Amino acid sequence: MSTNAYSVYELNSLKGRDLLSLYDLSRQDIDMIFKTAETLKTMQKMGAEYKPLKGKTLGLVFEKSSTRTRVSFEVGIWQLGGYGLFLSKNDLQLGRGEPIKDTARVLSRYLDGIMIRAYRHSEVEELAQYADIPIINGLTDLYHPCQVLADLFTIYEKKKKFSGLKLAFVGDGDNNMSNSLLLGGSKVGMDISVASPMGYQPTDMILKKAQECAKLSGSKITITDDVYEACKGADVLYTDVWTSMGQEEEQEQRKQIFSGYQINSEILKIANEDALVMHCLPAHRGEEITDEVMEGPNSVVFDEAENRLHVQKSIMSLLMG
Ligand code: CP
Ligand code: NVA
Repeated sequence: MSTNAYSVYELNSLKGRDLLSLYDLSRQDIDMIFKTAETLKTMQKMGAEYKPLKGKTLGLVFEKSSTRTRVSFEVGIWQLGGYGLFLSKNDLQLGRGEPIKDTARVLSRYLDGIMIRAYRHSEVEELAQYADIPIINGLTDLYHPCQVLADLFTIYEKKKKFSGLKLAFVGDGDNNMSNSLLLGGSKVGMDISVASPMGYQPTDMILKKAQECAKLSGSKITITDDVYEACKGADVLYTDVWTSMGQEEEQEQRKQIFSGYQINSEILKIANEDALVMHCLPAHRGEEITDEVMEGPNSVVFDEAENRLHVQKSIMSLLMG
């Protein structure tokens, strides 16, 4: 552990806190997560061991499928010296109706932190209300904060700045990714444009919060149904699946509604030449993104996936350390 990283921990304002939404983090909190992630990433690349969570256990509660979130959290807690306990919701009594408030208090007696992926954000809020250990949101219907922290970290790695950049999100403006990008992006001072069909645009609740963050950072938020307007001159082009987990019944209808809301080579041409193409993954090539663009030189999708590991190690060490 370098002296530098120690000094980050001495100022740790995140110790013991939950991470449910980026709205709850200050700009300073976000900077601390990024500084620590940078140190942890460098140390890992150098092969240096650092185990601040020795003897600590993180419960990983999953109500939905996952590749990146599950593997990066499990590997991450292990690399930090701790232990990750995978808990499928259906295997817990929670899946048979045991109240969240009881589960929260029981698990708080065994574990040092919980990462949870759930359908309803309100359930994660209730878990956090009754648990006395840090609760980390690993995706709900409303937010995906860990993904967006990794995305912002990736943007900063590549562009070395946030302010003056424009991020365009194309797709379902009313989903967890769009919501978290609006909050996180505006908090760090990027201009955010969301292009979505009418009826699938961000809710007033999210817009109000994002506008509040944008006012503080001096950034701008634009909501439109015009993909060209949103992507013109963009520094980052971001998209996500048209049908999120839990919306499978609407899949065919959504394919019709969202056709045209795609990141493709035509859209890439109207963005800035060195625009980053991002996607939280999993991707549906031929729907929200073409194979050509996903595999092309502007795409940083696998760097952002890697950064889930480094940023979440930072989050765990700061919250649970
Ligand atoms: N991006 C993301 O959260 O991926 P998983 O659903 O595979 O965890
Ligand atoms: N919006 C997507 C994100 C997946 C990481 C979903 O909720 O399925």
